[in-house]
Order: sequence, then C-alpha cells, then structure tokens
Amino acid sequence: MIRKLVRNASLFTPLDGGRPAAGRQQGELLHLPRAAILIENGLIASLGAEDEVLPTLQDAPIDEEIDAAGSCMVPGFVDPHTHLCFVSPREAEFTRRLRGVAYLDILQQGGGILASVAAIRQTSEEELYRLTRERALQALSFGSTTLEIKSGYGLDTENEMKMLRVIKRVGRSTPLDVVPTFLGAHAVPPAYAGREDAYLDLLIEEMLPRIKAEELAEQCDIFCENGVFSLEQSRRLLTAARDIGFHVKIHADEVNDLGGAGLAAELQALSADHLLAASDVGLARMAAAGIVATLLPATAYSLRKPYARAKDMLAHGVALALATDCNPGSCLCESMPFVIGLAVLNMGLTPAEALTAATLNAAYAIGMAEKVGSLQVGKQADFLLLDGESPAILAFHAGVSPVCAVYKRGEKIF
Ligand code: NIG
Ligand code: FE
Repeated sequence: MIRKLVRNASLFTPLDGGRPAAGRQQGELLHLPRAAILIENGLIASLGAEDEVLPTLQDAPIDEEIDAAGSCMVPGFVDPHTHLCFVSPREAEFTRRLRGVAYLDILQQGGGILASVAAIRQTSEEELYRLTRERALQALSFGSTTLEIKSGYGLDTENEMKMLRVIKRVGRSTPLDVVPTFLGAHAVPPAYAGREDAYLDLLIEEMLPRIKAEELAEQCDIFCENGVFSLEQSRRLLTAARDIGFHVKIHADEVNDLGGAGLAAELQALSADHLLAASDVGLARMAAAGIVATLLPATAYSLRKPYARAKDMLAHGVALALATDCNPGSCLCESMPFVIGLAVLNMGLTPAEALTAATLNAAYAIGMAEKVGSLQVGKQADFLLLDGESPAILAFHAGVSPVCAVYKRGEKIF
C-alpha cells in the first residue's frame, strides 16, 4: 500500500450528501484553513484539520509527504460536457458568425457540425487519437481531472464507433478519468437528409446495441433543436437507449425552447444541458425530478447569446453543473477556470456555487459522484492547488489559469 500525506492545505470542498447540491446547499463549502489528508493507494483515507489528523498517524509509515505550503486546495474539476474528439476547429465559420451569420443557418447550409463530420470520416483512428489526447491533456493542465467526451461527428456506425474507441483509449492512456457519451444524434447526416426517422431507426436498431455490446459508452445524448431532432424524436431515441440500459442526457433548449428540460425530467436523465431558452415550466419540472442542469457559459459567450438563467434555476431548486462544451464550432475552450469566471461574473453565481457546479454537481451529471467531485473519505484524491486564497481566484484572475498543480489519485500530474 502506498501512503501519502498532504499537509498545510487551505482546503475548500463541497460535501456530498448523496445527491446533487441544489438551492442553498450549492453555495455551502467546507473550509479547513490548515488541513491534512491521508491518501492510501490514491483514495482519501482520512481528512481533517491538521492537529486532528496528524496525531492519529503516529507509527504508520508515510511514503511521500506533500507540503501544500498554505495553498488553496479544491477538488479536481469534472468537465461533464465536451466534444473534444474532433479534427480541427472551424475558424472560417467563426469569422462568418462574427459577421452575423447564425450558428443554425451554417448547419442548415451543410457546414457546422456536418463540416466536422466530413473531417472525422477522412481521418484515421490513430490520428484522431493523437489529436484528442493532446486536447484532453490541455484540459488537464487547466485542472480538469475527469472529462466527459461525446461522439457525434461520425454519424454512421463505423465512424461513431471509431470516435468512441478513441475516447475510451484516451481514458486508458492518460491519468484522466474519461466518460464516453454516444451522441450519434448530434445532427442528421447528409445521406438521411429529410429522413430523420430512418436515421433514428439506424441509431436504435444498429448503433445502440453494438455500442452496448462492445461496452463503448454507457450514456446516450441527443441534440434536441429546430432543424436537428424534435422533442418527439428525442423521446423515442432516449427511451430506446434507456430501455437497453444507457443513462440518458439531452442538449436541451439551447437556441429554441422545444421542451427539452421537461423531457429530461420525464426520462429521469442524468442532466439537461445548455438550457439558454428553457421555460419556467421546464425548470420547475427539472427541480421536481432532481435533474442536474449543466450550463455551458463559454458557449453563450462564443455565440454571443444571453446566458442561461442560473439564478432563476437556483431559485427553482435546480442543481447546477458547469462544463466547457469544448468543441470545434460553438465553443473552442478547454478551460474550466474560464467557465467558472463567466459563471461568477456574467451569471451571478458565487465562487462557492460555481465551484460546486464544476466539481460535485458535475460528477453527478455524468454518474461519477461515487468516485470524484468532492474531497471526502473514500473518494479519489483528485485535487488542485491554486495560486490564491480562495476559489474566488478562479473568477478573479482573468485570462490565465490560477491552477498551479494538479493531482490525480494522489499523483502529481501537472
Ligand atoms: O453543444 N449543440 C450542439 N453541439 C455542440 C456544438 C458542436 C459543434 O458546433 O461542433 C454544442 O454546442
Ligand atoms: Fe454540446
């Protein structure tokens, strides 16, 4: 057994009460100004004030001592919504958007997500792995220790499975915990234009069962939006996925309110994501069903859209998570500190609410809360040391990352 001791940390963590932290709880952190953590084989074995923990360690041998030198320590970030398995960013499209062309219009014209699909289909699995791994390590350098990564730029059986194999391999070949999500319903592929239901048949009859059999993903997602998949089509796919054992989530009410938030509640989804246009009725249904709202403020920023109504969601009692949405089109961003900064300064979350959103609630949004998301006995010793006095530095120090060290299962990885 390898035993490590972290000393002299100013520790801030949300506490896991067995479900996502909602309402007032979202803003409540444990703060231990001088904490010690005993780590055994990468898991937290004991944690508390130094003068309580140290006396209990009398004769136990310690293999490594980590002096945090009074730094602010927080849980590693969990980024619960990314599309970072892609070939290259769509920069020309970004400049078109700057000139006023709408994101969904670009997709309608065969660009957008479909341009990224064409690129994926022409790229070898090996090259896609190299590109994805590099981007995942970039996210790690900004403090993400757990990442969700979606497929969705293949849109046929061969290329969706290629993406999912790449995503799984990135998890195995880096220190990160990687959770793959099947997003075959990200757009309607050109070969099925105008035949969305036939494409759904392919997803349900061929892709879902094969992905399940090869254990390539445990979560299924869909882009529910005008010109993409309707609410009824979303219900059909996600119900079929759930019936064969997938957890489900949904890109809901991003540009238009189609009722995606309510559908997430109806299906007991792990999360509903985006929600820029979600209605009060939808939010109330999410709150009642305990569904996490995963907010993606860097996407609103990049699309120059109004932010999701985070304060209203909190008032409704919805638990909020934050994610980068890192993707080649609507939001090219691997940085959770940037996302936290937007959430605090532009959406009105407190630094404590934003930290809970980026750690504990994010872990719940991808079914990982048993292992990660808070610093507590039994969970993995995934933590960050920040160059500041409190989590507020994440929002305050703009344009750089205040994350000076990243530890995964007690191992320094950045
Ligand atoms: O979450 N909304 C749909 N999917 C992504 C964008 C993907 C892309 O533009 O490549 C999103 O914003
Ligand atoms: Fe997305």
